[in-house]
Amino acid sequence: MDKVLVTGGSGFVGSNLVKRLHENGASVRVLDNMSRGRLSYISSLSDVEVVEADIRDTESCRDAFSGISHVVHLAAYGSVVESIVDPRTNFEMNVLGTFNVLNLCVESNVEKVVFSSTGGALIGNAQPPVNEASLPKPISPYGAGKLCCEAYCHAYSKSFDLNTVCLRFANVYGPNSYHKTGVINKFFHAVKDNEPFLIYGDGSSSRDYIHVSDLVRGIELALNNNSVSNDVLHLAAGREVSLSELAGVVRSAAGKPEHPIEYLAARKGEVDRNFADYKYAKQVLGFEPSVSLEQGIQDLWDNYDWKK
Ligand SMILES: NC(=O)c1ccc[n+]([C@@H]2O[C@H](COP(=O)([O-])OP(=O)(O)OC[C@H]3O[C@@H](n4cnc5c(N)ncnc54)[C@H](O)[C@@H]3O)[C@@H](O)[C@H]2O)c1
Repeated sequence: MDKVLVTGGSGFVGSNLVKRLHENGASVRVLDNMSRGRLSYISSLSDVEVVEADIRDTESCRDAFSGISHVVHLAAYGSVVESIVDPRTNFEMNVLGTFNVLNLCVESNVEKVVFSSTGGALIGNAQPPVNEASLPKPISPYGAGKLCCEAYCHAYSKSFDLNTVCLRFANVYGPNSYHKTGVINKFFHAVKDNEPFLIYGDGSSSRDYIHVSDLVRGIELALNNNSVSNDVLHLAAGREVSLSELAGVVRSAAGKPEHPIEYLAARKGEVDRNFADYKYAKQVLGFEPSVSLEQGIQDLWDNYDWKK
């Protein structure tokens, strides 16, 4: 790799990826509009260039693609709930933004693009475990947008010889997610503020939680592996965890085994059960997650940055 551009590089996944690529000797540039991430996550990394620009505005991003051989495209609005409240903004950020990024990649002769897709929200309510052969039937605008972006990645690889790889992430957790409002952060703050855990539905709804260190290793493998091209792969932990079970893991990490739980009505757009089979990523990339949920949550609790 000559030079890697990470869009959304000051966000949760982006900052962990930039740190890993930087530690492994890659030359890295970040493009981010700073709407969600934190510059402080990456500011200690010397020689990582940061370009502040918005992917909805092609002109302001053009210079950031100069001299770039590989792109990891992470910039997006990642909330299912927000995409239902304001589907147009989600479309403009995620779909039009990705369309602009792909065009800039073609224009700048980028060799390879790794796109951040999603497993659960894109496939919808299917019998888990899901895999690359599962039929996508998204039930939220966010999931529909990611499916649309996967289609553009494939079309651009065939129409313009742009090598694209779409990685469908499971639910990611770990350090530098302090600005996010996912369930694990909500549970942590509930313990700290002595408020009950709020669970939408009866607690049986499930997800597949992957530690960010495992995820960014998978992204790096996809970036470096020249035999993987124009493909879709699930990066997941492969373990189904219900919300009730997750609450138990957080209770135990926080040393509060009796922390109260309040159950509310299930929310529209959220899939009921989801976990993914990562066999294909293991076969083609040698990807294998190594951090157990119990270990990852304990580590996050012990080192949580409450100030961020
Ligand atoms: N975190 C997860 O569990 C998860 C799961 C599946 C897929 N994903 C996908 O992975 C990617 C990264 O997610 P994350 O959790 O790191 O989110 P994040 O919100 O922490 O990071 C996204 C970054 O993109 C930037 N950004 C947003 N809109 C932008 C725009 N228009 N122009 C430039 N920059 C913009 C934000 O400022 C932020 O730094 C997203 O595409 C998301 O949909 C995440």
